[in-house]
Amino acid sequence: MSRLNKGLSWAISLLIVGTLAGCGSAAKQGGEPFGGSNKAASQGDALTSAPEQVQALYKQSCISCHGNNLEGKVGPTTNLQKIGGKLTKEQISKQIISGGNGMPGFGTKLKPEETEALAEWLAGKK
Ligand code: HEC
Repeated sequence: MSRLNKGLSWAISLLIVGTLAGCGSAAKQGGEPFGGSNKAASQGDALTSAPEQVQALYKQSCISCHGNNLEGKVGPTTNLQKIGGKLTKEQISKQIISGGNGMPGFGTKLKPEETEALAEWLAGKK
C-alpha cells in the first residue's frame, strides 16, 4: 500500500513539474510520459480549442496580460473567459485595435484579418 502511495505522489509531483514547465514553447514538445490523459489546465484549455493561427497570435500578443487560459493576469477586467457574453465581436475588434485603460492598441501591429480571427474566437467565449 505505501509503495503504491509513494508511486502516486511521485507521479503527481512529476505532473506538477510538467505543468510548471509547460508554458511557452516547451509545451509543444510533447514529452509527456502519461499519454496526456490528464493534462487538465497545463496549456490552457481555452487556448487549445482555438485554431492554430489564433493560438499563435494570442501567444505572441496577448498572453502576457490575459494569461495561459484567458484567466487574466493584470486584474479582473483582463479575464476574457466569458468575454463573448459581455462584448460583441465588433467591440472586441475595437478593443484590440485601439486598446485603452492599460491595454496597448494593436491596430498597427496586427493585420485586419488577424484582429478579425482573434475577435471571432473571443466572441465565442460565453
Ligand atoms: C500590456 C497588457 C495587455 C496586452 C498585451 C493585451 N491586453 Fe487586452 N486588456 C488589457 C487590460 C489592462 C484590459 C482591461 C481594460 C479595461 O479595464 O477596460 C484589457 C482588456 C481587453 C479586452 C476587453 C475586456 C473587457 O472585459 O472589457 C479584450 C477583448 C482584450 N483585452 C483582448 C486582448 C487581445 C485579443 C490581446 C492581444 C491581441 C490583448 N488584449 C493584449 C491588457 C492587455
